[in-house]
Amino acid sequence: MAHIYGNRVMLREYRESDYEHMRGWVNNPKIVDTLSDIFLYPHSEKDTRGYLDMAMSTNWKGFVIAFRDTEEYIGQIDFIKLDEKNGWGELGIVIGKEEYLGKGFGTEALQLIIDFAFSQLRLNRVELVCWSFNARARHVYEKVGFVQEGVRRKKRYRNGEFHDEICYGLLKEEWEARK
Ligand SMILES: CC(C)(COP(=O)(O)OP(=O)(O)OC[C@H]1O[C@@H](n2cnc3c(N)ncnc32)[C@H](O)[C@@H]1OP(=O)(O)O)[C@@H](O)C(=O)NCCC(=O)NCCS
Repeated sequence: MAHIYGNRVMLREYRESDYEHMRGWVNNPKIVDTLSDIFLYPHSEKDTRGYLDMAMSTNWKGFVIAFRDTEEYIGQIDFIKLDEKNGWGELGIVIGKEEYLGKGFGTEALQLIIDFAFSQLRLNRVELVCWSFNARARHVYEKVGFVQEGVRRKKRYRNGEFHDEICYGLLKEEWEARK
């Protein structure tokens, strides 16, 4: 996939030099607590290496979110599932530095990949899931146009309580109507 440019961020391929940036967040509870339980136990260098090797392979369907001007790593946005036959993809996103959270980079990256999904991949729907307690992510997803489609009740146990998983979807026609 070619680079995709927004106002402040770009979506680019994974690079060897991203390894240190990825190590910078994979064991940071402030980043990984709202991600999946694959981060329940510490991530080893081998885990990160394995992910980066996969992400640098030709079959990978995702991007590093980077600064448009310097191409420096900000985070990652990937299709964690892509069903080309039925025209849908499921996204995963992380901003990988605490100081970059809440600066608008996640919103811009999502808008770029959604546009790419509908105008280049010919998808008809993009979806993602999110824990009910992830208020920032939910706000961002709803702001860019995702519609809450369902709730998987009490799917995650965290800090002594069960929490719901919220399922979001966005159709191409809804995205085009918003533009
Ligand atoms: C979720 C995530 C991708 C969003 O990206 P981001 O760059 O931090 O978000 P943005 O700066 O684009 O937007 C943040 C928005 O949430 C709002 N917000 C921040 N904290 C909030 C809270 N606790 N409750 C509700 N809204 C909140 C901000 O005001 C802003 O909205 P606005 O633009 O309307 O003012 C990013 O925070 C992240 O990677 N978090 C850690 C990993 C994660 O949770 N990934 C998603 C898993 S489903």
